[in-house]
Amino acid sequence: MPSKTIMTIGPESAHYTTSNGAPVSEPYAAQRLGLLGPLLLQDFHHIDLLAHFDRERIPERVVHAKGAGAHGTLQITEDLTDITSNPFLCQKGRKAKVTVRFSTVGGESGSADTARDPRGFAIKIRTDDGNWDWVFNNTPVFFIRDPAKFPHFIHTQKRDPQTHLKDADMFWDYLGQNPESIHQIMILFSDRGTPDGYHRMHGYSGHTYKWFKKDGSFVYTQVHLRAEAGFRTLSNAEAGKLAGENPDYGIESLFETIEAGYPPAWNVFIQTMTPEQAEQFRYNILDLTKVWPHKEFPLRKIGRMVLDENPQNYFAEIEQAAFSPSHLVPYIEPSADPVLQSRLFSYPDTHRHRLGTNYQQLPVNSPVNPVANFQRDGAMTFVSQGARPNYQSTIVPLRYHGEPGTLEGGARDFEREAKHETFIGAAFRDLSEVTELDFEQPRALWEKVWNDAQREAYVQNVASHFKGVKNKEIRERQLSVWAAVDQSLSDRIAKAVGAPTVKPLKVKPASEAVRFRANLGVYTSV
Ligand code: HEM
Repeated sequence: MPSKTIMTIGPESAHYTTSNGAPVSEPYAAQRLGLLGPLLLQDFHHIDLLAHFDRERIPERVVHAKGAGAHGTLQITEDLTDITSNPFLCQKGRKAKVTVRFSTVGGESGSADTARDPRGFAIKIRTDDGNWDWVFNNTPVFFIRDPAKFPHFIHTQKRDPQTHLKDADMFWDYLGQNPESIHQIMILFSDRGTPDGYHRMHGYSGHTYKWFKKDGSFVYTQVHLRAEAGFRTLSNAEAGKLAGENPDYGIESLFETIEAGYPPAWNVFIQTMTPEQAEQFRYNILDLTKVWPHKEFPLRKIGRMVLDENPQNYFAEIEQAAFSPSHLVPYIEPSADPVLQSRLFSYPDTHRHRLGTNYQQLPVNSPVNPVANFQRDGAMTFVSQGARPNYQSTIVPLRYHGEPGTLEGGARDFEREAKHETFIGAAFRDLSEVTELDFEQPRALWEKVWNDAQREAYVQNVASHFKGVKNKEIRERQLSVWAAVDQSLSDRIAKAVGAPTVKPLKVKPASEAVRFRANLGVYTSV
């Protein structure tokens, strides 16, 4: 049965044919000379079969290789005209079809679904004005705020170039040298690092985006998806056991839950901040190692997402899905967060490598509204845009959000009446600087948010991985990062791995941190 969301060709019953559609009566037959002689080159059926098999694999994703996915619907439940002119968000009750892919990050495509890792939570929202991708994780913060560190950090979780083994020294060597990662490490080594399936966890944009109105005004926005089933987690022991017994636990439980008629659902919320509030905020809003406290910036519900349809064909509908934070729609823009800015490039770049130049034409990626532009041809073109000229023509012009058949005429719907800030450089200055500000939110988790049982789980979860570190210097440096969060936290981990206690890492005071000035679009020192 074809999927309801994605048009993939595949009748349930059909005549067996070669790839050019010629019927074949015996799938296992290979033409050969006589009874025991060599095979014949003329046997297209056999060569077709083997040659296609030889080419079945496409590159796996360099990160987030292991995944699971489903289709469903996102409905907007609020009137959002006060903050954006995006047509999809402006109409209460409006629905869009979505495709979601969940994933682990570091492992290969055959790795265990219950590994301690953030989970990817990528959503393709098919609006009438283009596909809008939310390429989120299940943690509100991230390890880095300097995008140049991403390949280094990811390499520490891949295999050692010589031993071809994963290596705890590599992982903790990186983290100790880059202590801005500590907030994410607090979350990752709590039980949130091992969610109980993909459909019982929250999702977060992490980055700040800008949601605009026609008049050029905007709010900084972060998106949260909260699972109606709650954020269920596994203990370290349960996750380890499942990794051995059922490495596909996440894929299976998502599929079975939908198949059994219990579609998982998420409520969608946003946090917003005006540019003026951003200037007064204690943290830099372009730093995704920080959260925005809910007390100061309350969650506002905007919608609900339900996943009620399993793919009919995993490869076509999930593996070939190509998500990118740069697949945006009118009145939604990226902020100047340097990690987000780098991602805008990286995803389409890797898709062109993984899926080809025309990755947007694959059924799962193709927008529901017609695409009209001057891109033509290339390998595997399916949509050639007919006879329409391949340049900006006055004879058969494209409409630019105006009246049909005119280049200039009509209201230009998606034009903003006023422009916003000018971006000025200098954003790179402070990215690597670590100050006392970086330890406040991790400390709040340890001292205020967690109870005794959660603190103990954290210590034990860390210890089970950290005990694999062989190098003394790496061990001491990371213990000093934990001591900068809280001395008792560091001492408890040291005790659990049988290491001596260490003093806190020395960092600059919070008053020396570089602050964000939204009206200039630059960073300035306070
Ligand atoms: C996947 C790069 C940070 C979420 C990927 C892929 C690349 C990549 C190359 C593979 C895409 C594919 O082959 O289809 C980067 C870079 C980053 C970064 C360069 C920082 C400089 C982040 C952050 C988040 C995130 C901060 C979340 C807030 C995801 C997700 C996927 C992914 C969910 C999987 C998408 C899917 O299911 O197809 N990333 N990433 N990444 N990334 Fe990132």
